[in-house]
Amino acid sequence: MKKRMRALVAARQREPVAPESFDGPWPLADEWRVGDVVIPNRVVQAPLAGIGNRVFRSQSREHGAGLVVSEMVAAHGIRHGNRRTTQMLDVVPGEHPMGIQVFGGDPDVMAEAARAVQEAGADMVDINMGCPVPKIMKTGAGAALLADPEKGAAVVRAMVDAVDIPVTVKMRRGLTPGDMDPTEVARRFEDAGAAMITIHPRAAAEEYSGTANHAISAAVVSAVDIPVVISGDIADAVQARAELERTGAAAVMIGRAALGNPWVFGAIAQGRPDPRPSLPEVIAELEAFCDGIEGLLGADRSCHYLRKFHSWYLTGRDVPDDELQALMEEPDLAQVRLRLARLRETAALAA
Ligand SMILES: Cc1cc2nc3c(=O)[nH]c(=O)nc-3n(C[C@H](O)[C@H](O)[C@H](O)COP(=O)(O)O)c2cc1C
Repeated sequence: MKKRMRALVAARQREPVAPESFDGPWPLADEWRVGDVVIPNRVVQAPLAGIGNRVFRSQSREHGAGLVVSEMVAAHGIRHGNRRTTQMLDVVPGEHPMGIQVFGGDPDVMAEAARAVQEAGADMVDINMGCPVPKIMKTGAGAALLADPEKGAAVVRAMVDAVDIPVTVKMRRGLTPGDMDPTEVARRFEDAGAAMITIHPRAAAEEYSGTANHAISAAVVSAVDIPVVISGDIADAVQARAELERTGAAAVMIGRAALGNPWVFGAIAQGRPDPRPSLPEVIAELEAFCDGIEGLLGADRSCHYLRKFHSWYLTGRDVPDDELQALMEEPDLAQVRLRLARLRETAALAA
């Protein structure tokens, strides 16, 4: 299993965390703004490559995320009118406020991508400056832009000049731990016109190892006057409130903790304990998600996309390993549905 997913699966086994007592206002329920865009609460769904399509984003909003961000979209793919890339720009009415994240290293190509994102109806356009994947960095995109903050700032400026919607940046602390001062880099992006910064305070070389050190995030918050969102290892309402208050950030971003657990958005936004719905409810949610994904990808491509979701939703629940394995290997969506319905009925009878 990939390193970045191990913590997620471990988290599925832990006990629900109940916030102690919440007298008074819950700070994550407050409205905030990015430029003129009003965001109803301080919980943001993270951009997740290969995952964050419009069905996933709409589900995140329905469950209480205040802002959702698309999976990263290739600026070059937009320029060349690549069909799959263009489909990634689809925005549906229920998901606003939302941002589309693009990646690329060329200011002109990124400016064009920003215009396409604006035309697609997104409320903001986010720049990926955190992706540590060598294939992406080799092209000068993702975290490679942090190695050359001048170029990163030129990309921000070109996009800001091209569109009226806010241009935002998602960055890591650097390429390797300590190779640069992220506060200085964030300040440059602010000067170039960025309307919000998201900081994931691991270096690109660290990928997902260790724990996100939000003392670094707090330093970035202090360094700039624009809203800062913090990303990394935030998984429940108690932790979200503690990190929001410790760092002074505008909002928290939730990535892995929401995989197979969209209920976590509402729990964090409203200060409720991690809700852990019953198994029949979880399966019903997964079935509805399958329907949405079929509408987007068609039956043939859906099984592959959904494979990891079966594991995310059902690991650590009372589902026999062989049933889960069979579900993940099933190539026929109609059979996936039958298997899920059977599991749901069995779980309901056992309840
Ligand atoms: C499967 C996966 C895909 C990701 N894809 C993106 C992406 O497309 N763009 C991006 O900026 N970050 C991406 N990230 C990083 C997340 O947005 C987030 O910053 C990181 O996972 C830390 O937050 P978490 O601990 O809440 O998951 C990805 C992370 C994962 C696990």
